[in-house]
Amino acid sequence: MDNEFFLLARDIHKRFGAVQALRGVDFEVRYGEVVGLVGDNGAGKSTLMKILAGALPPDRGEIWIEGKRANISSPHDSRRYGIEMVYQDLALAGNLDAPANVFMGREKTHRFWKLTTPVLHRREMEKVTGELLLRLGVQLPNLRQRVRYLSGGQRQAVAIARTLLAQAKLVIMDEPTAALGVSEAERVLDLIRRLKEEGISVVFITHRLPHIFAVCDRIVVLRAGKRVGERTTCETTMEEITQLIVGGKTDVKYERE
Ligand SMILES: Nc1ncnc2c1ncn2[C@@H]1O[C@H](COP(=O)(O)OP(=O)(O)O)[C@@H](O)[C@H]1O
Ligand SMILES: [Mg+2]
Repeated sequence: MDNEFFLLARDIHKRFGAVQALRGVDFEVRYGEVVGLVGDNGAGKSTLMKILAGALPPDRGEIWIEGKRANISSPHDSRRYGIEMVYQDLALAGNLDAPANVFMGREKTHRFWKLTTPVLHRREMEKVTGELLLRLGVQLPNLRQRVRYLSGGQRQAVAIARTLLAQAKLVIMDEPTAALGVSEAERVLDLIRRLKEEGISVVFITHRLPHIFAVCDRIVVLRAGKRVGERTTCETTMEEITQLIVGGKTDVKYERE
């Protein structure tokens, strides 16, 4: 397999009862690339990403990561390959602060003499969290504030700081700006740019095409469970992408059935 690709997914199928959610979808992500994944409600975007994140098993299809056939049957497997998904609800604990959220499940501990219970190394966790957020261009006024009191953009930053701690190679963001106002959404776009600057690949799902055009290198369009088009962002327009989304147009090479 070509080594410019971090990930290749081939011929992915997924059915839920009577609904054929994905019908033979190919998808790929290059190293350091930001891919916009677009399509109407129900097109299969979240299903495809949940399969890559190990949250759902595909019925059929292959996934290749860094040139090798990957076996992803749980979120844990997916993380081992360097894939981190940031869900829309973010899965943050609102009553805990940023360091506790960033380190959740990976708490730094140290053992005191004769003390068998590991003690959380709070100061170290705060220091590292501050550094991770700084890499994302974010400075929280108070790291000890519970994340439920942070703004939407700041919470996204905390969720993404977690993926940096995990040394993610691919971060999947499913509608991260959906619930955000204009300036908060701009912050999230900045976070995506920072990930790209760090050489991390991103898949970004959103309905807002201007956001796609602001940060994505390439755009993949799904319609009714099929991939109907792909464009390099600088060689297309919002009108053309809209046509692909609603069905006025399909790329010839995806017209097989
Ligand atoms: N867990 C599920 N059970 C049943 N149907 C589902 C489930 N998840 C998704 N679907 C269906 O699969 C199709 C694709 O859904 P989804 O991947 O969420 O689309 P998108 O994210 O593009 O809006 C839709 O028809 C949806 O109703
Ligand atoms: Mg979705």
